[in-house]
Amino acid sequence: MSVHAIVAVASDWAIGRQGELLCHLPADMKHFKEVTMGHSIVMGRKTFESFPRRPLPGRQNIVITRNRQWQYPGVTVVHSVEEAIAAAETEDVFIIGGADVYAQTLPLVEVLHLTVIHARWACADAYFPTFDMTEWQEVEREHHTSDHRNAYEFDFITLKRRQP
Ligand SMILES: NC(=O)c1ccc[n+]([C@@H]2O[C@H](COP(=O)([O-])OP(=O)(O)OC[C@H]3O[C@@H](n4cnc5c(N)ncnc54)[C@H](OP(=O)(O)O)[C@@H]3O)[C@@H](O)[C@H]2O)c1
Repeated sequence: MSVHAIVAVASDWAIGRQGELLCHLPADMKHFKEVTMGHSIVMGRKTFESFPRRPLPGRQNIVITRNRQWQYPGVTVVHSVEEAIAAAETEDVFIIGGADVYAQTLPLVEVLHLTVIHARWACADAYFPTFDMTEWQEVEREHHTSDHRNAYEFDFITLKRRQP
């Protein structure tokens, strides 16, 4: 099994504000769908509840919560990070956030799919955890300019954890 994480970050590693994403980038939504489709996705209960349409179709949705009563149709509910990874039914499992869950799972992640948005939001309140870039190797980078649908420039970057 391979553990991946996928995240869209601003230039200062911010990822959200008031329980929502920082901006709407259709090109990134499409990329997220392409990368995660058919796989197990692991998320915190707050991220799951932020989706307008849920669970996300075509993927095993695994939601982590401490609330033993919480359930939702079509969702695999777990109560720890370890349980989340063990519950994954696909070979590749994708951690999809939010800040709390990224911080706890990053040590397990082997491949990091970053969308780096070339902008900053002063009102951000959720951040990707800091990490040592020397432990990672960049294996892909694709630059995108802004256009009429995507208001910001961004890069799709894939990092793989270096073998010790
Ligand atoms: N930019 C991006 O790519 C991206 C991606 C995803 C999310 N986000 C943003 O991130 C923000 C949400 O992040 P967040 O940190 O507030 O919330 P989160 O990580 O989505 O969810 C946190 C919740 O997950 C559960 N949880 C976390 N660790 C657990 C553990 N070890 N055991 C059991 N349950 C656990 C708890 O749920 P209970 O409270 O139910 O116990 C906790 O309150 C939003 O702004 C969202 O839009 C951004």
